[in-house]
Amino acid sequence: MNFQLTEEHEMIRKMVRDFARNEVAPTAAERDEEERFDREIFDKMAELGLTGIPWPEEYGGIGSDYLAYCIAVEELSRVCASTGVTLSAHTSLAGWPIYKFGSEEQKQKYLRPMAQGEKIGGYGLTEPGSGSDAGGMKTTARLEGDHYILNGSKIFITNGGIADIYVVFALTDPSSKHKGTTAFIVEADFEGFSVGKKEKKLGIRSSPTTEIIFENCKVPVENVLGEVGEGFKVAMMTLDGGRNGIAAQAVGIAQGALDASVEYAKERVQFGKPIASQQGIGFKLADMATSIEASRLLTYQAAWLESAGLPYGKESAMSKLLAGDTAMKVTTDAVQIFGGYGYTKDYPVERFMRDAKITQIYEGTQEIQRLVISRMLTK
Ligand code: CAA
Repeated sequence: MNFQLTEEHEMIRKMVRDFARNEVAPTAAERDEEERFDREIFDKMAELGLTGIPWPEEYGGIGSDYLAYCIAVEELSRVCASTGVTLSAHTSLAGWPIYKFGSEEQKQKYLRPMAQGEKIGGYGLTEPGSGSDAGGMKTTARLEGDHYILNGSKIFITNGGIADIYVVFALTDPSSKHKGTTAFIVEADFEGFSVGKKEKKLGIRSSPTTEIIFENCKVPVENVLGEVGEGFKVAMMTLDGGRNGIAAQAVGIAQGALDASVEYAKERVQFGKPIASQQGIGFKLADMATSIEASRLLTYQAAWLESAGLPYGKESAMSKLLAGDTAMKVTTDAVQIFGGYGYTKDYPVERFMRDAKITQIYEGTQEIQRLVISRMLTK
């Protein structure tokens, strides 16, 4: 077993870490406050090749792997979880299914500009009445000549309103739940497509989350992604990898909170000595670091499995479960270490704590991860 990252992984980590510190961190608090997405940051990520890390060069990517992608999401999230999830949803939720199930034409038309960062990707599965029960969707797609006509709406869409291309799921046969679901590639300027309500959120506030609406939305038949009736599997397989991206985001958030806590605990003097040298705080820091390392290892393992072409769905669900809970616990402890100051916006730990919560909810709640893992153990 070799736990050493390759030179390429180390190089990508250093590049993203420098970029995150110099270009993303300085405005993170302000963008959070203003709930503002910054397209310039995305464009700069594109210049560095971050918007297409795992995709081959023939599709506009840099031909690296899922581990490199996770490292990038982690390093971005270490300073700004919103930027981390923008890249994660773009890559694993929109890029991945097109790479995996798309025709050569679809890959050239959609994956290439996404990989090059000219276009942003989004993913539409959740509906007002179907969150955890993804198979309970109501959005329909009716075939009319050479188009499908989509009707319905999707909510809680990461990159909603800023995405140019959405991978969307709809019922082509409403009488049969899973087997009647089909995946589509929908362009934001298709007739009948619109962006609805933008959510006001607790955390990841500079990553826009919106409703997307289909009102007789005309989608050409050539935009069916994969086979008609196989969409539920496309959705599930996409989430298998996507969950690991969220685990990487959670590891980054937790690491960011630990970095800030260590720095603060070394400087903050109470009872005549730095609080870092007082056992109550020192032990807390030790526990935080230990659970982050365990989460990181599981996250990297799942990414490595996927890159090696081995099964990774269980490990990916496990990594999100562990890393999401770690992020919540570590960031809560970080606020505790900072005491009253941690509860204010003078320090970043309150933002990390707000951002951490979503990692226990999206791309399947922690309860759904347990369901996925237990089903895989017993099937
Ligand atoms: N890979 C391939 N096929 C899969 C699969 C997988 N991982 N999981 C299920 N399937 C297949 C099954 O084999 C089955 O196929 P057959 O009909 O041929 O037997 C079919 O799909 C139905 O499977 P289930 O009976 O297991 O389906 P279910 O209705 O019990 O649901 C579930 C399973 C795991 C609970 C699923 O509904 C689920 O994942 N729910 C959570 C949804 C979720 O994660 N939403 C996140 C939204 S995206 C998001 O959050 C993005 C963001 O903001 C960043």
